[in-house]
Amino acid sequence: MTRILPGKTIGILGGGQLGRMMALSAKAMGYRIAVLEPKAGSPLGQIADTEVIAAYDDIDGARRLAEASDVITYEFENIGANVAAWLEENAPFPQGSRLLEISQDRLREKEAITEAGIEVAPYAPVHSLDQLKAAAERLGYPCIVKTTRGGYDGKGQMVLQGEQDAAEAWEKLADSAPLVLESKVAFSKELSVILTRSTQGEMRAFPVAENVHRNGILHETIVPARITADTEKKAVAIASRLAEAFALTGTLAVEMFLTEDGTIYVNEIAPRPHNSGHFTMNACATSQFEQHIRAVCGVPLGKTDLLKPCVMVNILGEHLPRILAGLDEFPEAHLHLYGKDAAKPGRKMGHLNVTSGRTDEMLELIRSSSIWREQQAMGAKQ
Ligand SMILES: Nc1ncnc2c1ncn2[C@@H]1O[C@H](COP(=O)(O)OP(=O)(O)OP(=O)(O)O)[C@@H](O)[C@H]1O
Ligand SMILES: [Mg+2]
Repeated sequence: MTRILPGKTIGILGGGQLGRMMALSAKAMGYRIAVLEPKAGSPLGQIADTEVIAAYDDIDGARRLAEASDVITYEFENIGANVAAWLEENAPFPQGSRLLEISQDRLREKEAITEAGIEVAPYAPVHSLDQLKAAAERLGYPCIVKTTRGGYDGKGQMVLQGEQDAAEAWEKLADSAPLVLESKVAFSKELSVILTRSTQGEMRAFPVAENVHRNGILHETIVPARITADTEKKAVAIASRLAEAFALTGTLAVEMFLTEDGTIYVNEIAPRPHNSGHFTMNACATSQFEQHIRAVCGVPLGKTDLLKPCVMVNILGEHLPRILAGLDEFPEAHLHLYGKDAAKPGRKMGHLNVTSGRTDEMLELIRSSSIWREQQAMGAKQ
């Protein structure tokens, strides 16, 4: 692909916070931005040069986006398969549709990861309550049943502690069948690796991130991850192998479970910048968003070195008023808010990158603040 130089327009499918942060980086470099999103005034729409208001599966919308753009990327993976196929045929869409198809469907994703020679937790497809019970018996309790499509932030999944939970879980999720049942991994840590490959074939990985979830939603990312050099190497090797197997162009985030004995299972992948990579904005030589823009435009990638330790903490709807009132508690931290107006509980409104001090000091600063007290994260389940 030819290089897309600053001054040209990058079209982004999806108007959420990931697109907004891509656009902020792109604009700093001198690019113009067009966005496709069903509603005006989205986090990205607020700062884009051109807004195309259309559904994610509207081919005419995709055509209008393509007319306004010199290259097209996406900020989330649930774009209609019809639109992805149309773009692949008719527009400069360097990332292609294959990784989108894989990551949109948990079953296909697990098959593809396994085919690449990488381990996932034991799993089984489920089409009926009987199958759910039989599979749970085979995999053992506790296990987790998930919808194959459309889940995010822990939505569309339920933990089964024993057979008594199966009927309720089936009733709640059956409308989205087929489901996937997976063993609940007794992990010691969750890790993620984000890597980027440009249209010129250059590839770089960011430092491994350690992730702490609450109620199925990412709460904190700690970098450097508190793991051995060996595990760090292994995690990056797994992500690189997947990038190779999927012929990656753009950004790939790989979520992993690390167990006490050093085994790594891949949980899921996302073919885009990722919440667990937000630390890069203030702690790395290049942010994941700038790197992604460089990659899809085919300009040289930036260095990914970690410049200082960082703890990223997410700001959900319930945290927003408290962080705004409590900024004095974090005078040296970097606040990023996404321009969403409705601060619903559990909704990602922004994040804070804490970069001053040692990791244990930064963690203690967050833990001792009233902003993220455990009992106050209640709404997150909705
Ligand atoms: N098999 C599993 N074993 C143990 N914990 C799990 C398992 N599956 C999910 N979890 C926990 O739930 C979290 C969310 O799960 P998952 O990543 O599958 O969901 P998601 O809704 O796609 O989330 P997101 O899009 O925010 O990454 C995981 O990060 C992990 O903490
Ligand atoms: Mg996940």
